Amino acid sequence: MTVLSSARLTLVAVAAALLAACAPAPEGTRSEIAERIAPVGGVDSSAMEMVAAAPAAPAAPRSGEAVYSTYCVACHMSGAAGAPKYGDATAWAPRIAKGKDALYASTYNGLNGVMPARGTCMDCSDEELQATVDYMVAAAE
Ligand code: HEC
Repeated sequence: MTVLSSARLTLVAVAAALLAACAPAPEGTRSEIAERIAPVGGVDSSAMEMVAAAPAAPAAPRSGEAVYSTYCVACHMSGAAGAPKYGDATAWAPRIAKGKDALYASTYNGLNGVMPARGTCMDCSDEELQATVDYMVAAAE
């Protein structure tokens, strides 16, 4: 037997062993596996029914913190475009000095073309925006 053909035989043996390893598991083993993974792969239908049956709750006003972390954080965390940073007392002092109503107004209307109207939260109520300004001001006082 040449060296080459014995190397081929080895390759064939390795391939056969690999194929055997991939062969389908015997029936008994399969159902055992199915049982073991069932709680993970399955959906608890009673929980789904409870979710489906739950009445739609009236939308509660979002907290200042919730609105801030969804809409305002993008600019006010980093100070993008000169936004006064959250918690930066120095940056906020001259703004706080204008009074809350001025801050509410610039939040509703936007400011200098860089602070967008309503801070991009177009479905925020005035009350939610006020709570958000209060939340940001409180962190910088
Ligand atoms: C796209 C970036 C951006 C987002 C998003 C944003 N702001 Fe601003 N904000 C700015 C910038 C920039 C300024 C500074 C504007 C200036 O003084 O020229 C500013 C200023 C302010 C001021 C001070 C206004 C004043 O009169 O001095 C308040 C209050 C404020 N933002 C509230 C908010 C709130 C509340 C949100 C989220 C609902 C928000 N901002 C989202 C960029 C942003």
